[in-house]
Amino acid sequence: MTDQSKVALAFSGGLDTTVCVPLLEEEYDHDEVIGVTVDVGQPESEFEEAAETAEALDLEHYVVDAKDAFAEQCLDAVKANATYQGYPLGTALARPVIAEAILEVAEDEDCDAITHGCTGKGNDQLRFEAVWRDSDLEVIAPVRELGLTREWEMEYADQKDLPVEGGNEGDWSIDTNLWSRSVEGDDLENPGYVPPEDIYEWTETPGQKEIETIEITFEEGKPVAIDSQEMPAVQLIEYLNDLAGSHGIGRTDMMEDRMLGLKVRENYEHPAATTLLNAHEALEGLVLTEEERAFKKQVDQQWAEKAYEGLLSAPLVDALDGFVDTTQEKVTGTVTVKFEGGQARPVGRESDYAVYSESAASFNTESVDGIAQSDATGVAKYHGFQSRLANEVTANAEAKKAELLTDGSGESEE
Ligand code: ARG
Repeated sequence: MTDQSKVALAFSGGLDTTVCVPLLEEEYDHDEVIGVTVDVGQPESEFEEAAETAEALDLEHYVVDAKDAFAEQCLDAVKANATYQGYPLGTALARPVIAEAILEVAEDEDCDAITHGCTGKGNDQLRFEAVWRDSDLEVIAPVRELGLTREWEMEYADQKDLPVEGGNEGDWSIDTNLWSRSVEGDDLENPGYVPPEDIYEWTETPGQKEIETIEITFEEGKPVAIDSQEMPAVQLIEYLNDLAGSHGIGRTDMMEDRMLGLKVRENYEHPAATTLLNAHEALEGLVLTEEERAFKKQVDQQWAEKAYEGLLSAPLVDALDGFVDTTQEKVTGTVTVKFEGGQARPVGRESDYAVYSESAASFNTESVDGIAQSDATGVAKYHGFQSRLANEVTANAEAKKAELLTDGSGESEE
């Protein structure tokens, strides 16, 4: 152990992480704090805010670009059709990526501790620490450990003359990355409160723009091109966020069951995620067999739950990925998606792997592969056999019981 102690802080320049800087020195006796901001596709303004705040705090500040890694993670989530209670997991998928990037800086800079500004109520503390507790660094969570409230933080910042501007964008707590934008807190905490349009930044009011269709090309489950134009992951997601967002696609207003058991009201915007998830599932509908689709639903559900927990590193996920990747070998083709009325609706799909025989399904052909319509007669006779039998047996048994009861009462009358 050196006598100099150095701590790396996940730094956004927001209120929570700003108050952490002096608190780490005062309450935890760390001589040196470094701030790390990880780029997972936040708006430029957030980096400006972080840089300005760091400068005002005299904080050594690192910015790490993890956009590509994060974009690949998002597209992996598409392969597993991943949503949690309807939410495409933007924050959840980003946290481990951010945590890894900060850990790398902390180790490079010989830090002995690592810190976040998360509260003790949310999911993010768990997702960060799941990554960090795998290292030798001490994990510190000042907001949680000191039991801080927003109000206390405001007052403390005022006393210390810390550079905070009354929180970002009013009183809402906002988390933005490539995959989703989340808005929570203040009035929105009341599940009955109808949010005003101005909570939305990525999505226009649906139904105002003229209907539009696009074609998305997938290769082994991964979207690679829009309208035949190939794009790398980051660019493809950004392009769709703009386009689908202009059609008001991908708003979610939900009650979310957090890991600690709290139920919270959440609002999200995720135009690209919704578009890609819908298109991907439509293509799977064409190329996977019925039983593959049914089993994959269970695999997808498990995958999404681990993603929500920030535990995609779990051995279970490796096993799930084995199944997902095998199925995705056939998920190559093109899906036409129509943007209409706030929906991204798949309206056409094509693939060389289509498990589809037009002549077999068509109303216009009488026999296919030597199977004639009339061959279904035997199947139709058997269909429902067990249910019919069960219902009949039950009816007979009830009648017998009723008869016995009548006989019994007849006897007692004598
Ligand atoms: N509840 C979501 C999750 O746990 C997102 C929370 C985002 N944070 C925020 N301050 N808006 O994944």
